[in-house]
Amino acid sequence: MAKNLNLTLRIWRQDGPQASGRLVDYQVEDISDEMSFLEMLDVLNERLIKKGEIPVEFDSDCREGICGTCGLTIDGVAHGPVAGVSCCQLHMRHYQDGDTITIEPFRAAAFPVIRDLVVDRSAFDRIVQAGGYVGINTGNAPDANALPIAKDMADLAMDSATCIGCGACVASCPNGSAALFTGAKISQYTFLPQGQPERRRRALRMVAAMDEAGFGNCSNHAECEAVCPKGISIGNIARMRREYMRAALTRRDD
Ligand code: SF4
Ligand code: FES
Repeated sequence: MAKNLNLTLRIWRQDGPQASGRLVDYQVEDISDEMSFLEMLDVLNERLIKKGEIPVEFDSDCREGICGTCGLTIDGVAHGPVAGVSCCQLHMRHYQDGDTITIEPFRAAAFPVIRDLVVDRSAFDRIVQAGGYVGINTGNAPDANALPIAKDMADLAMDSATCIGCGACVASCPNGSAALFTGAKISQYTFLPQGQPERRRRALRMVAAMDEAGFGNCSNHAECEAVCPKGISIGNIARMRREYMRAALTRRDD
C-alpha cells in the first residue's frame, strides 16, 4: 500500500557556471512512495513555480535508464543508493518518512556546472567524435546474418555497448577519470568485424581526446564499476590499455 513521505531536500543551487553554489533546504510534504525520484523533483518544482520561485534545473529525457542524460549525486553517490540503476529509475519507496536527502550535480573538473544540477558533459561527445564510430562506407544495410559473428564476441561487444554515457563513472572516480566510458566505447568495436579497419586509430585518437578533455588518469579504484547503472566492467579499461599499447607500439594509425 502506498505511503506518503515528508522529506527535507538539501539541493545544490547555482545560478550559472561562474556563480558560487550553495545547498538550499526545501521541505516537501505528501510525496507518494510510488513516485520516481525525478517525479518527486517535478512535484517540488511545480510547488516552487506556484510560489513564484525559480525551479531547480536538472537533466532528464527518457526516464527509462536509456538516454544517460539524468545525473544526480544523491547523498554522495552518483545515481543514488540503489545499485545498477540510473537516478530516473530510483523510486521513493527506498526512502523513509522524515529523511533528509542531499542532491548535488555530478562533480568532476571536466563536467563544469551549467546551472543547479545540470553539468556540461560535452567532453564525452568529443571523445566519441574522435573515433567512436565506423567511418567506412558500408553501403546499404546487409541482410540479417549475412556477416556471421560468434555469439561470445557479439555478447562481449554488447556488454560494452550498453554504456549510456551518463558520466557517473567520472563523478565517482577520485581522479575524475573517463577510463570506463572510453574503454567501453573502444571495446564495443574491438569484437566486431566492422570495427577492425580503424581499430588502431580509434584507440589512439579516443585516448588522446580523453586526455585533452581534462579527465584524470585511472588508478584502479573501481568506484566507476560500483556506480555504473549498466554494470560496465572495469575489464573495459584493461582492454582500452591493451588496444592503446598495441596501436602505439606498432606505430600505426590505420
Ligand atoms: S561506463 Fe557506466 S557510468 Fe560510465 S558513462 Fe557508461 S553507463 Fe555511465
Ligand atoms: S532520463 Fe534517460 S537515463 Fe535517466
